[in-house]
Amino acid sequence: MANDLLKGKKGIIFGALNENSIAWQVAERAHEEGAEFILTNAPIALRMGELNELAQKTNSDIVPADVTSIEDLENLFNKAEEKFGKIDFILHSIGMSINVRKKIHYTEANYEYYHKAMDISAISFHKVMKVAKQKDIMNEWGSILALSFIAAQLSIPGYNDMSDAKSLLESIARTFGYYYGVDKKVRINTISQSPTKTTAGGGIKGFNSLYDYADLNSPLGNAPALDCANYCIAMFSDLTKYVTMQNLFHDGGFSRTGVTDKMMHKLGFE
Ligand code: NAI
Repeated sequence: MANDLLKGKKGIIFGALNENSIAWQVAERAHEEGAEFILTNAPIALRMGELNELAQKTNSDIVPADVTSIEDLENLFNKAEEKFGKIDFILHSIGMSINVRKKIHYTEANYEYYHKAMDISAISFHKVMKVAKQKDIMNEWGSILALSFIAAQLSIPGYNDMSDAKSLLESIARTFGYYYGVDKKVRINTISQSPTKTTAGGGIKGFNSLYDYADLNSPLGNAPALDCANYCIAMFSDLTKYVTMQNLFHDGGFSRTGVTDKMMHKLGFE
C-alpha cells in the first residue's frame, strides 16, 4: 500500500531496536512511501546488530546517539545535514525506566532512576528539538513526533514513573510546538498508542493483562504497531500540515470509552 506520501522527504528515526519496535515499522513504511532517513539508537542497543538488517532493507545509514547526550545529538544532526541538507521529519520512539525494570513500586521510587527515566523518555525530546532548531535543520512544514501512552492522563497501576515521563513528554510537544510553529512552521505532536507487544512494552509490570484489558475495553480493539506506523506516515506527510501541539490518540477508542459490552460480559454484569 505505497502512495509516495513521503516522496522526497528526509528524516531521522530514533528507537528501532528489533522488528517489534514501533520505530522499525515506521522505518519500513517510510521507506515504502519514498522517504530517506538516518536510523539512530543508543550505542549499547546497536551492539545487538539487528539494526543493520533494517538499514540495508531501507538503504539507510546508522548513526549512534545516546539521546540524553547533546554532544551525540549534535554529531547526529551534523551527519544528517551533511547527507540531506535540511530534513522534513523526526520520530522520537524512545522510552526507558530503571524503576520499571527493577520493579520498584511507584511510591518507593529511586530518584536517581526517576531522573534517568525523565531524561531518556521525555527531556530527550526537548534536547532533540533544541539541537534541531539551533541548527535550523528542519524544512518549513516539517513534522516531529514522539510516542506516548494514556497513562499520561489516566492512572494505570504498573506503568510507574513512565506515567510522569509521558505527561512531561506531551507537555514538551505542546510547549515546544508553539515556539517552533511561530518561528519555523514546524509542527510537533505526540501519538498516544495502544499497548503494543515490544521490548519496552513487555517491561511494564502486568503488561499482558493491561494489553488484554485495553483490547477488551476499546470498541475497535488495540491498535497494532503497523497501524501506528501508518498514522506516523500520515503525520509526516503534507496531508496533515495544520496539525500541531496535539496528543493524538491511536488506541481503538480506548481513551474515550467508559466500559464496553465485551468488558461487562467478561465481568459477568449482565
Ligand atoms: P522498543 O523497546 O522497541 O523501543 C524503545 C527504544 O528506546 C529502543 O530502541 C531503545 O534502544 C531506545 N532507547 C532507550 N534508551 C535510549 C537512549 N538513552 N538513547 C537512545 N535510544 C534509547 O519499544 P517500543 O514499544 O517500540 O517503544 C517506542 C515508544 O513507544 C516509547 O516511547 C514507548 O514508551 C512508546 N509506547 C509504547 C507502547 C507499548 O505498549 N509498547 C504503548 C505506547 C507508547
